[in-house]
Amino acid sequence: MDTATTAKKISLYLPRIGLSCLILCLISGLVLVFYYRPLGNVFRNVEEITTLVPYGYFFRQIHYASGQLFVILMLVHTMDQFLRRRYHSYFTVEWTFLIFSLCICFFVLFTGFILKGDKEGFFAGQILMNILKEIPTIGAYTSRLFIVPGKSFFFLPFLYHCFFLPVLIIFLIRTHSHEWLPDKKFLFITSIGLFLYAIFVEHHIDIPPDAHIDIVKGPWFFLGIQNLLKIMPPLWPSLYFPGLFMGCLFILPHTRTTWRKVLHYFIIISFSFYGVLTLKVIFIGL
Ligand code: HEM
Repeated sequence: MDTATTAKKISLYLPRIGLSCLILCLISGLVLVFYYRPLGNVFRNVEEITTLVPYGYFFRQIHYASGQLFVILMLVHTMDQFLRRRYHSYFTVEWTFLIFSLCICFFVLFTGFILKGDKEGFFAGQILMNILKEIPTIGAYTSRLFIVPGKSFFFLPFLYHCFFLPVLIIFLIRTHSHEWLPDKKFLFITSIGLFLYAIFVEHHIDIPPDAHIDIVKGPWFFLGIQNLLKIMPPLWPSLYFPGLFMGCLFILPHTRTTWRKVLHYFIIISFSFYGVLTLKVIFIGL
């Protein structure tokens, strides 16, 4: 088999495995939502799910791994389409929906990270709240749409994570996904892989909210932003730069050839820069 055929097969298989992950993520999420309480002592509740609920640990593992893999595969799929300059062939609405759904995917991961209710989750929730509050004029109102301090701190992220956002993702990708139930072969292989992961790989440790640690890190895709937050005003790395990047992606199919080339390479360079920044935080620290 030549390289071109292999590459074609890989770009065909990845979204199918991604869709299988989404299905497993939704099923495991539905199991978790029966036991999860977004009010009260959320950390203790999540620890009870892990240690006392029958197969609770297993379902948390499956949900975590399938959720992460789904979003990573969606990102790889978009990069694959982008690098092969397939954006030429998309209708405006479809391209916009796809890019928007990718953003929502990362927001679902972020809210899932908050829902753990441990030190990292609480910290991530506070960062989200503070960044939104910084938006001029509408900041205070906007932040209250996503997260409120106090007893119901986890409630709005819970509603977004478990209900609104998954429904929105499914709505946005509905015309793009040609088959909702991917080939049984993919579902089977993905399930086996994730089951083995859930059984043999240890879950990351949830840090108690009152534990004393020097540095609290956000989710992996947020590490680059977290690094930049240390050296510039919050709205630049968390809103303006990502907004500019997404704006370039949105308008890409509608630009003239020369501008399209400029934007294409601008997107590659900014993405690579962010990747390097993230790796720096992972391997060297904040
Ligand atoms: C695209 C869909 C989804 C993705 C990518 C996703 C991803 C995640 C991730 C990464 C976590 C953090 C897990 C951890 O670090 O331990 C999480 C937590 C959680 N998710 Fe989801 N999720 C999705 C949909 C859902 C749905 C539909 C539900 C319920 C109906 C749900 C319920 C939960 C609950 C209750 C938690 C907190 C418990 C825990 O941390 O294990 N999720 N999710």
